[in-house]
Amino acid sequence: MDGALKNATNFNYGNEKIFEKAEDFLPINGTDYVELYVGNAKQAAHFYKTAMGFQSHAYAGLETGLRDRTSYVLVQDKIRLVLTTPLTSNSPISEHIKKHGDGIKVIALWVDDARKAYEETMSRGATSYFEPTVETDQHGEIVRAGIHTYGETVHIFVERKNYKGLFMPGFVKWESEYNPTGMGLKFIDHMVGNVELGAMNKWAEFYGHVMGFANLITFDDKDISTQYTALMSKVMSNGNGRIKFPLNEPAAGLKKSQIEEYLDFYEGPGCQHIAVATDDIVFTVSEMRRRGVEFLHVPGSYYDTVLDRVGDIAEDIRTLKNLGIMVDRDEEGYLLQIFTKPVEDRPTLFFEIIQRKGAKSFGKGNFKALFESIEAEQARRGTL
Ligand code: FE2
Repeated sequence: MDGALKNATNFNYGNEKIFEKAEDFLPINGTDYVELYVGNAKQAAHFYKTAMGFQSHAYAGLETGLRDRTSYVLVQDKIRLVLTTPLTSNSPISEHIKKHGDGIKVIALWVDDARKAYEETMSRGATSYFEPTVETDQHGEIVRAGIHTYGETVHIFVERKNYKGLFMPGFVKWESEYNPTGMGLKFIDHMVGNVELGAMNKWAEFYGHVMGFANLITFDDKDISTQYTALMSKVMSNGNGRIKFPLNEPAAGLKKSQIEEYLDFYEGPGCQHIAVATDDIVFTVSEMRRRGVEFLHVPGSYYDTVLDRVGDIAEDIRTLKNLGIMVDRDEEGYLLQIFTKPVEDRPTLFFEIIQRKGAKSFGKGNFKALFESIEAEQARRGTL
């Protein structure tokens, strides 16, 4: 489970290094795709289309010559989701689902040179998932290579500068007669990893040393605690800021933290949430609610004082209250955000919808209200 760290011998965990500035040995253009391993990709694809506004894009399965799995590719603006399900019990995908339930296996990163990305990270202590591999079809070639990160999650570097096709070789266009409209989701703002107690600094160092990321912000248990639970978080970001990976670990509290609950049910570290950006959160959340997405409940009292804290905003506070959208401000502006409930039965992966109006932070002012809301859900699940 922790292979990437065990094998990463050339950086020092005992001595916490501060990564203040990102290094440029690993230029990343953005998130290429996120692949989930799921128990039933056909039904999951229906959910992501209906409830979240993703569009049918590409497909690979029995009809395209695969025997062991099926994958659906869905897109919304710059976001690409791949939903993969195994067709046999004897498969690493099945093993992954047996252990973790539905969850994120691959956070793929779009690079100009996948071989170099692999060599640079391997030389700094990464553990290989697979070596640089060229896939070709009549539209050109894709080069991919993979390394391990926390838990059983992996990063795949994707080089597509010599490819003109839909997604990648092996996939055909997915034509569907069912095409619900989009919901204004534009790109992935950040993706959060939950790691074991005591492992946050190790993984922050992994992103700092092996990937060249900088430590943008650190939150300790004084920033993120309620009466019952606490967590600590470090936000790691690449040089151009397009990739932001907050890393959470549980901190001691009176009761079980949401991070421990995640680790228990995911049976190990993994990706906790994907934050997706919108330019119109009121539209996006109205539409998601209408199409059946469930969000965490924000107590009405939150809205009695929020404007005292954040000052003037362009949105009507009553609209935000009706939709349960939260607001926070930093030195550079403000942001609007809301969190879905977990999107599977295990209380693991969920989504955040975020609209930034200048703010570059992560909603620290909302942590307390947010965690109290999560604790109310935990109490209902009997896991607090
Ligand atoms: Fe977030």
